[in-house]
Amino acid sequence: MVASKFSTKPKICYRPIRPSDLETLEHIHTKLFPIRESEIVDLLGYDSAKSDQTLVYILTLGVVDTYRKLGIASSLIKEVIKYASSISTCRAVYLHVISYNNPAIFLYKKMSFKCIRRLQGFYLINGQHYDSYLFMYYVMGDDLLAHH
Ligand code: ACO
Repeated sequence: MVASKFSTKPKICYRPIRPSDLETLEHIHTKLFPIRESEIVDLLGYDSAKSDQTLVYILTLGVVDTYRKLGIASSLIKEVIKYASSISTCRAVYLHVISYNNPAIFLYKKMSFKCIRRLQGFYLINGQHYDSYLFMYYVMGDDLLAHH
């Protein structure tokens, strides 16, 4: 692919990541997210050992800037939802997003994620606290059940 804007939507192909992708992925991740993998894992409060239900968590989602607004993130989220739907015990896909990240918030709303709550000071970046929103996509229609 060429690193310029496309006049038509490109065909998006997926493949599992390979060990040889690690360096590139680490480079992109460090550029897009001001937070290390080990720090993020500590942020997860859900203890899957205590429940027979499963949740799928999107830790980080990023698209290299020259490839943005082409539907790549939406397409990746659809794949995650498809994967989550294939797990019989899965109730939802969820994620956190920093409160000022409007492009991402628009994206998740467009993909029918529901904003569940605002978490005060969830992120600590360069010594400063930032709020996050918790977004959920209910895989088995629990959002409907919860309102009855
Ligand atoms: N401004 C407003 N809305 C936007 C923007 C933008 N710049 N970019 C995407 N959206 C919204 C729109 O609703 C868009 O739908 P539309 O095209 O019909 O208007 C929708 O998202 C889908 O856009 P995609 O093309 O699928 O998204 P893209 O592939 O460009 O990726 C992403 C979006 C991931 C937010 C990208 O901008 C990015 O990598 N940003 C930097 C990293 C980041 O912020 N990641 C998300 C953090 S939260 C987390 O990781 C769990």
